[in-house]
Amino acid sequence: MRHAIQNLEESRIREVANAGMGRSDVLAFWFGESDEVTPQFIRDAAIESLAKGETFYAHNLGLPELREAVSQYTSALHPKVASNRIAITSGGVNALMLAVQALVDAGDEVVAVTPVWPNLTAQPLIMGARLKRVSLKPAGGAWTLDLQALLDAVTPATKLLIVNAPNNPTGWTLSRAEQDAILAHCRRTGTWILGDEVYERLYYEETPNRCAPSFLDIASPDDRLVVAHSFSKSFLMTGWRLGWLVMPADMTHQMGKLIEFNTSCASVFTQRAGVVAIERTEDVTPRVVGHLNACRDTLVPLLQALPQVQVELAKGGMYAFFKLDGCTDSLDAAKRLVAEAGLGLAPGNAFAPEAQGWLRWCFASKDLGRLEQGVDRLRGWLARPGA
Ligand SMILES: Cc1ncc(COP(=O)(O)O)c(C=O)c1O
Repeated sequence: MRHAIQNLEESRIREVANAGMGRSDVLAFWFGESDEVTPQFIRDAAIESLAKGETFYAHNLGLPELREAVSQYTSALHPKVASNRIAITSGGVNALMLAVQALVDAGDEVVAVTPVWPNLTAQPLIMGARLKRVSLKPAGGAWTLDLQALLDAVTPATKLLIVNAPNNPTGWTLSRAEQDAILAHCRRTGTWILGDEVYERLYYEETPNRCAPSFLDIASPDDRLVVAHSFSKSFLMTGWRLGWLVMPADMTHQMGKLIEFNTSCASVFTQRAGVVAIERTEDVTPRVVGHLNACRDTLVPLLQALPQVQVELAKGGMYAFFKLDGCTDSLDAAKRLVAEAGLGLAPGNAFAPEAQGWLRWCFASKDLGRLEQGVDRLRGWLARPGA
């Protein structure tokens, strides 16, 4: 077994969830997914496809119809992205892994902005890369980027820069000015950028298209930029395992080869559901985002009212990431919250060592009352002697 695999850390989020899964009395907010099922019209498209007998292999790069639908969707939010720059993948995490496999050799230097979803730092390590972390800085309950520190970290020796914005877990989002500076710098150093933009539509700032700033808005089609996307979050399709990549056109053929050797293709009935989801995005995404906005605005003020908690309204994503005063071990606190209060949160140190003492709460709850109940449990637990 390769050392790189043996040395991978197991997910600390799973460690907490395993301690509480199957317990009906636990209010679980540990995973990054909504508790709402995929809309019926999307499920119907998959059912229809299966009823027609679409049970065979498909193109490596995805159904032409879906690539075209993604091209139109992306081009409505950003400057035009032609379908020959798009590959359909088996989920966002598969999209990210494919990008890292395509770009990173063993021994290459990869820079990642952290805290971040642990899969993004594990993937380069699986490839045998050397990982350099650039940490966002906590200020009160929010995290901000030290742009100069990031630019200093990315040198001509850096093969790939990985940036997830809107960010899981912090909710931090890149500004357009920061994106401009990063892109200009990476052009100078010859560094590829992997933008994880799966939360771009889960954005709560007022903008004409309700979409977070994207590297696709400023890059030219042949820049060293790959952007990963997912159907999971904006279309309530976590279990379907469907996503996509945007890349320079001359990379797409190579990506098709790589998909052949990973998954061969995304399943056809899933892709049929994807076509309908993306063509009818207006029937799902604005409602989902509106509800998530209400979830955030319910949860965060309640948390802010707790004297031991520091938290800010996230600009994007589906998480409240908060600092618990006096907490020196997030994992221990998260496990005790499950055992002693029936509250399931993700430990901050699952996302970066510097987030020790923080906890992540996924606020994507159909029922706002569950969030209020969760805060009651946290308040009660904090009031206990020795909590
Ligand atoms: C930052 C980030 N990127 C990518 C993903 C991948 O999502 P999926 O594999 O469900 O498409 C997630 C899921 O939680 C995420 O948080």
